[in-house]
Amino acid sequence: MDLIIVDDYEALSRAGADWLVEAIQVKPDANIVVATGETPMGVYRELAERRSRGLIDTSRLHVFELDAYLGLPPDDRRSLFGWARRSFIEPLGIPEANIVRLASDAPTAVEACRVYDAAVRRAGGFDISILGLGPNGHLGFNEPPSLPDASTRIVDLTPESIKSNARYWVGEEVVPRQALTCGMDLLLSARRTLLVVSGVHKHEVLHRVIEGPQTPDVPASYLQSASDVTVLADRAAWQGL
Ligand code: F6R
Repeated sequence: MDLIIVDDYEALSRAGADWLVEAIQVKPDANIVVATGETPMGVYRELAERRSRGLIDTSRLHVFELDAYLGLPPDDRRSLFGWARRSFIEPLGIPEANIVRLASDAPTAVEACRVYDAAVRRAGGFDISILGLGPNGHLGFNEPPSLPDASTRIVDLTPESIKSNARYWVGEEVVPRQALTCGMDLLLSARRTLLVVSGVHKHEVLHRVIEGPQTPDVPASYLQSASDVTVLADRAAWQGL
């Protein structure tokens, strides 16, 4: 694991965009799986800004959805796909044909997971993975406990995730209780991973991810064994200040 510590969220967004620009220049048609959540939003904004200045071509990327609330249609504003569309897919000019969804509104979610898994494998796996870190150590919606070979599947959200997601809904009671997530198996075999971590509330879990034992109780700790992982954190997360 490489560790990059920067001063604040602005610096994190710039450093994340630098990392991504370099990765995309190496493979302009990369298969990329992208997290939503708040942390990577600055990275995506910075990347879109560089694209608008003609510094990078993102139009050949193949984008894979990371996770989705079960049963929520993709055009619902609260859907994670809608969020990925507004923050990454549209600002970066990714063509519709280059998007692979985790179709959480499909008639059978189990089949949607199977179709997604097959699509990722057919495409040759992920070249680039951009992940955020759940306060409970989750990656995507691979909630604790998740083993490294956990596949793409339907998951029950933990009370901690329901609580943390409540800020995007009108109240905790309406947050969906289940989600679909890209599996740990696919995420851990990505060729390059950027884990972005910001804020004092991630301090403890960040240190468990980097220094603790690899355990299903902190799914992100398995990144210690994955290849080419960069953890990009701000001082608040790193020092807990
Ligand atoms: C979002 C996702 C989640 C978030 C994580 C951190 O697609 O998969 O795993 O990355 O919950 O969220 P933030 O960045 O909002 O703290």
